[in-house]
Amino acid sequence: APSDPDLVERARAAKEKLGDKVFVLGHHYQRDEVIEFADVTGDSFKLARDAAARPDAEYIVFCGVHFMAESADILTGDDQQVILPDLAAGCSMADMATAEQVAECWDVLTEAGIAEQVVPVSYMNSSADIKAFTGKHGGTICTSSNAKRALDWAFEQGEKVLFLPDQHLGRNTAVRDMGMSLDDCVVYNPHKPGGGLTADELRAAKMILWRGHCSVHGRFSLDSVNDVRERIPGVNVLVHPECKHEVVAAADYVGSTEYIIKALEAAPRGSKWAIGTELNLVRRLANRFAAEDKEIVFLDKTVCFCSTMNRIDLPHLVWALESLAAGKVVNRIQVDNETESFAKLALERMLALP
Ligand code: 13P
Ligand code: SF4
Repeated sequence: APSDPDLVERARAAKEKLGDKVFVLGHHYQRDEVIEFADVTGDSFKLARDAAARPDAEYIVFCGVHFMAESADILTGDDQQVILPDLAAGCSMADMATAEQVAECWDVLTEAGIAEQVVPVSYMNSSADIKAFTGKHGGTICTSSNAKRALDWAFEQGEKVLFLPDQHLGRNTAVRDMGMSLDDCVVYNPHKPGGGLTADELRAAKMILWRGHCSVHGRFSLDSVNDVRERIPGVNVLVHPECKHEVVAAADYVGSTEYIIKALEAAPRGSKWAIGTELNLVRRLANRFAAEDKEIVFLDKTVCFCSTMNRIDLPHLVWALESLAAGKVVNRIQVDNETESFAKLALERMLALP
């Protein structure tokens, strides 16, 4: 549905009043009505880097989810305030690894006698606490666009990786990009004593994958890939690495949201694409490229918005911008100093990856 013209005008006016004081970042999964007001858009890696691009901006309005706003706070100056227009915009995957669970896991690895060999690699989609744990134990953060480089780095530092919290990104990167076998990977289940693994299984593993997943990408199945190939002969299947291994193994191309956009920009006229990622982005791309005669369909018929990304809508954005324009700071995301210092270490290791 088209946006309410009154709200569009209010957002425009508030942004104009704030001028250079505000910097609006928008993740690719945001609604069109929000993307329209973003100064920059990107995947989570690009946004982490871009967050620090405007040190003069007093307010950074982050249109994305909570862990992204935390990372922006960690990577920007203390005098810059990061605002998340709706505090309920969390991420179910990030919630699957808590600080207590991860501390318990480290105890399990210590008891198995392997903690010294293990380097933690945490996906951006994790809380600041998990990033701090990662920094403290010599590890790095990664995103879907640099996971291979992060693993290459980690295996130079140690013999094993504890990959948090997305088992699929961990497994897909290890098997598809690093030439490991499925048998090199074990899954640590935080809801079972000892992670549900024996000490011998832990000692034999190269990749210890945390049992987390994305509730959106986890819904794509091998059937969706087979169905679309049957329905659309010659279709290119392009999926996000948060999809299950069997989906990624059956796809033609795999990559982050930024990669997906670039691949479609470079695609020849007349080509056909089935995309396995969040629906706001797929719809936007289908509309954008229809004029260039590129047929873009959603990989699965099941509607697949990320419900928490979608919580940031135009009314919330207007409320945040108008509050700031009136001198009132709302929904500030602020990571405490100790967590920040260790989390920053891990994020900076990622930013320094070759
Ligand atoms: P990227 O933007 O890094 O591809 O991440 C996708 C995602 O799920 C963000 O929540
Ligand atoms: Fe989290 Fe998945 Fe939504 Fe990304 S798409 S914010 S990983 S639930």
